[in-house]
Amino acid sequence: MAKAPVETRKAFTPGKIAGLTLRNRIIRAGCFEGMCENGSCSDLLIEHHRKVAAGGAAMTTVSYCSVSEAARAYGHEMWMRKEILPDLRRLTDAVHKEGGAASIQLGHCGYFASKADTGFQPVGASRKFNLFRISFPKPMTEADINQVIKQFADAAVMAREAGFDAVEIHSGHGYLLSQFLSPYTNKRTDNYGGSLENRMRFPAAVVRAVRQAMGPDFPVMVKMNMTDGIKGGIEIEDAVQIAKRFEAEGASALVPSCGFTSKTPFMMMRGNLPILEFAAADKSFMRKFGLVFFGRFMCQEFHYEDLFLMEDALKILKAVKIPVVLVGGICSLDDLDKAMNAGFEFVEIGRAIIKDPDIVKKWQRAEVTASDCDHCNRCVAVMNGGPVYCVCNEKGPLKRRFQPKGLPGTWRA
Ligand SMILES: Cc1cc2nc3c(=O)[nH]c(=O)nc-3n(C[C@H](O)[C@H](O)[C@H](O)COP(=O)(O)O)c2cc1C
Repeated sequence: MAKAPVETRKAFTPGKIAGLTLRNRIIRAGCFEGMCENGSCSDLLIEHHRKVAAGGAAMTTVSYCSVSEAARAYGHEMWMRKEILPDLRRLTDAVHKEGGAASIQLGHCGYFASKADTGFQPVGASRKFNLFRISFPKPMTEADINQVIKQFADAAVMAREAGFDAVEIHSGHGYLLSQFLSPYTNKRTDNYGGSLENRMRFPAAVVRAVRQAMGPDFPVMVKMNMTDGIKGGIEIEDAVQIAKRFEAEGASALVPSCGFTSKTPFMMMRGNLPILEFAAADKSFMRKFGLVFFGRFMCQEFHYEDLFLMEDALKILKAVKIPVVLVGGICSLDDLDKAMNAGFEFVEIGRAIIKDPDIVKKWQRAEVTASDCDHCNRCVAVMNGGPVYCVCNEKGPLKRRFQPKGLPGTWRA
């Protein structure tokens, strides 16, 4: 069968999430930018997202914005508060001027926090040692849980005040809500632990509270895990139930993903494991040492293939009526067609857009058919030490080698 001409492909037609119409079906996935010195919105971050919108994506997601100062995993992550709204407004204005929409990912890192980094005692579902940050969290009380539910709702309201068109609640990748969902981290014996119903109680309450705060038409997206990739973690059968529950609580769209940052951080990305680059970017000597000598044992490598989450995501798609956004290894016009033909309303793209923020425009004009991102994942390593950029794009003798912070990167404004 002959392929549809580029301009009539479904991926380039408008689509709707709740009351929001997007100019096409391609969303820039939340990818930590490392551009929030002092937890604020920098000019670099604004320019980063303006470029994504100028490059043709329908919506760009500002990644991991904590719902409170204590909800950060690292000191250089943004947290939502009144003082940063004027700068966030500059970001959303810049994106809107380019014809795009802006979303913001709201999260709480739970036991990923390190007191040494953020100054706050990490909290979590249960007292589970976190080797990744070398810390023990304090199990949350009901009062702590209610406070965080309110913080999610307040953060969403502030995001709208700053001009964001959507919010994405982070309930995957082993972050706090995912720590409650996962039996691996949730060992509670109260109403928030044990059965799936109990483990869903807190994340479901967050979605409900955000929906109530935002009214019926505002897009509230939820990124969630289909599998944690660890023994005793979430599997797809649970994820289907979780997806249905999020829909019932008012989610407008779901972004099914996978992986647990403290155990299987590369499951959500797949491809090369850039251990040495991670060690180079880390500020802690202890962790550098640990990564160089034990990184290969601590961190599993996962084989990359295009559309690597599609098979499981189809199970979520079948279970709900709201749009399901396919993320993971979407790198070509063919991948876009396959996702759309399978019934996904939207896709989220991370690395191919980090590699080339104009890729969507180039696909739409049929200037290229595929991204040349080779999933080396060095962008993931650099974001820990400074602004994210595509290391492979660097010119000259350093091309294709890791560059320490300080050398000019693709994303430097
Ligand atoms: C540099 C980088 C940073 C990321 N940061 C986040 C993040 O902050 N929040 C999140 O949910 N996912 C994050 N991800 C995962 C992406 O959103 C996406 O799920 C994953 O990269 C798979 O999509 P891709 O194959 O299009 O890159 C990150 C990925 C990359 C490459």
